Amino acid sequence: MSTPHPVFPLHPTWESPGTHRVPFAAYTSEDIYRRELERFFYRSHWCYVGLEAEVPNPGDFKRTAIGERSVILVRGEDLQLHVVENVCAHRGMRFCRERHGNRKEFVCPYHQWNYRLDGALQGVPFRRGVKQDGKVHGGMPADFKLEEHGLTRLKVATRGGVVFASFDHGVESLEDFMGPAILGYFDRLFNGRKLKILGYNRQRIPGNWKLMQENIKDPYHPGLLHTWFVTFGLWRADNRAELKMDARHRHAAMVSTRGEAKKQSDVSNVSSFKAGMQLEDPRFLDIVPEPWWGGPTAVMTTLFPSVILQQQVNSVSTRHIQPVGHDAFDFEWTHFGFEDDTEEMTERRLRQANLFGPAGFVSADDGEVIEFSQQGFEQKPFHRALVELGGREVGDADHMVTETLIRGMYEYWRSVMEKED
Ligand SMILES: [Fe+2]
Repeated sequence: MSTPHPVFPLHPTWESPGTHRVPFAAYTSEDIYRRELERFFYRSHWCYVGLEAEVPNPGDFKRTAIGERSVILVRGEDLQLHVVENVCAHRGMRFCRERHGNRKEFVCPYHQWNYRLDGALQGVPFRRGVKQDGKVHGGMPADFKLEEHGLTRLKVATRGGVVFASFDHGVESLEDFMGPAILGYFDRLFNGRKLKILGYNRQRIPGNWKLMQENIKDPYHPGLLHTWFVTFGLWRADNRAELKMDARHRHAAMVSTRGEAKKQSDVSNVSSFKAGMQLEDPRFLDIVPEPWWGGPTAVMTTLFPSVILQQQVNSVSTRHIQPVGHDAFDFEWTHFGFEDDTEEMTERRLRQANLFGPAGFVSADDGEVIEFSQQGFEQKPFHRALVELGGREVGDADHMVTETLIRGMYEYWRSVMEKED
């Protein structure tokens, strides 16, 4: 859904060198969006593509996307992981339509050009033409070389069972990309245990993709918007919390520890809070602490630009951001557990997953506020948002009453977007 909008320069007007006021044009300009795709999704960044457990066997593949470009994560015969672009080298067709499957090779249905799982072109029908009346007719030119026409291959990195890829073969290492602080939280969740895929949620949210990053860099809203969280004690503004960023402030971790004491009503300003409300099925909150948590009960990590890593008590998932135009993105949730989970723990994770996804008790709220934010931006694209909670500066924090992580993300965003090419 594209709304007609005024044309904006590539550099929206910021009111100051700071990022505590974000121009709405950053969400409404198609030109800015095109530059974001180039600079964040297709260059210098690692983007999430999936979990190794999604493609355990030789030939297993998963179709996914980096930015707006369709790519395929596939495990080769030698168990190597490859990520190739889903565009045939011949006439450019997006040849792979299935989400998941198993193949010995990729064949474009249009003219049957076929590729090895690592993307190398292995066969072209009628390459040497047809023989008729003792003469050869047609075929590819004599100097046509298979090896010059493979699929675009991406650089691949894996850690703890999570797979990232980049179109940019000069990209820094995945570890440097995350930086030590964020890497610590990444390794806490993906500490080498084998993962088990529990299922997917998919939704298209009609809002700018950055709003989803912002949503998980915003500890201000959960205790106010998410009445479910507040009512059932999963999020309180006085919970112990830490907000951490990488050195460039593009990634972040929101770390919180659920308190036990006090009545929720003591710290809640939510008008819809109902002290006496009970769950029909209390098993939604059958929380069992796990040894690997090491203290925090929830860590929400944003890896810029493409993924959110969720641990909210026993529910763990990746949330993949796939932009579709400046005003929408596809959001894919992969709920997982661990191979050594008991049957009971798997059931528990699945039950708690009801809080999340498009119709989740909690996450349905986020999809809606993102949609309505985009509507506000589109009707008033010359205006700006206010991001001043907790001051106008950027830095780690030990409480939740601050929008510092959003200011940090835009500090990085400006540094990349405003660079001359
Ligand atoms: Fe939220």
